[in-house]
Amino acid sequence: MSTVLQHPTHSPDPEATAFARKAYDRLAGRYDLLELPMEWLAFRRWRRRLWGRVKGPRVLEIGVGTGKNIPFYPAGVAVTAIDLSPRMLERARRRAARYPDRTIELLEMDAQTLHFPDNTFDEAAATFVFCSVPDPVLGLKEALRVTKPSGRLHLLEHMRVHPERIGRWMDRLDPLIYRLTGVHIARRTVDNVQRAGWVLEEVTDLAPGGLVRHIVARKPQP
Ligand SMILES: C[S@@+](CC[C@H](N)C(=O)[O-])C[C@H]1O[C@@H](n2cnc3c(N)ncnc32)[C@H](O)[C@@H]1O
Repeated sequence: MSTVLQHPTHSPDPEATAFARKAYDRLAGRYDLLELPMEWLAFRRWRRRLWGRVKGPRVLEIGVGTGKNIPFYPAGVAVTAIDLSPRMLERARRRAARYPDRTIELLEMDAQTLHFPDNTFDEAAATFVFCSVPDPVLGLKEALRVTKPSGRLHLLEHMRVHPERIGRWMDRLDPLIYRLTGVHIARRTVDNVQRAGWVLEEVTDLAPGGLVRHIVARKPQP
């Protein structure tokens, strides 16, 4: 394993990063309740689908939030899970304590500047995270850097839909929704994954128009 750290090509925007942290710190107490209907309707099924594909032995979860993926972590996999928001992480810690048989390390960290050496993890995963990471390409490049060659990235993300007319409306509404919630609704996440250097393996539309997609990508061999 190489221990040489390749620094990102540019630094994250401190103001936007502080804004995202504050938005999720504020939301942390209500997050699980607000998400409950969608969790039961679809998210649980989609989480199971994503984590059913993840292989270890060492996995990075980016943006663990309150730890909703923890029940779906595959047996025998050691997960290092990071998040920007201390309040979200507090809840993830409580959830992780209910699964003493799992190997889970929870760390406060920015996805845009990961404090891990190159090629640390076998695979990386994130669910509903790159809509709020201020610079998603930087975060995805960092995920690429810390994943081993041929390792996979597994994402569940909501994003700009395929139909152009609706997509343009999402573009118009995006700045307002972002100011109110810290979430971007019109990100082109599939393009961003490729721009960061990942090779797409599968993109599956889970919701109409590709509003939510399951993306599997691979780190190319050097
Ligand atoms: C919508 S929540 C999703 C949480 C969890 N993955 C889930 O599926 O419920 C987005 C999470 O991404 C985290 N996040 C946003 N920007 C981040 C960054 N730059 N680095 C690490 N985590 C970040 C937020 O703090 C929040 O916990």
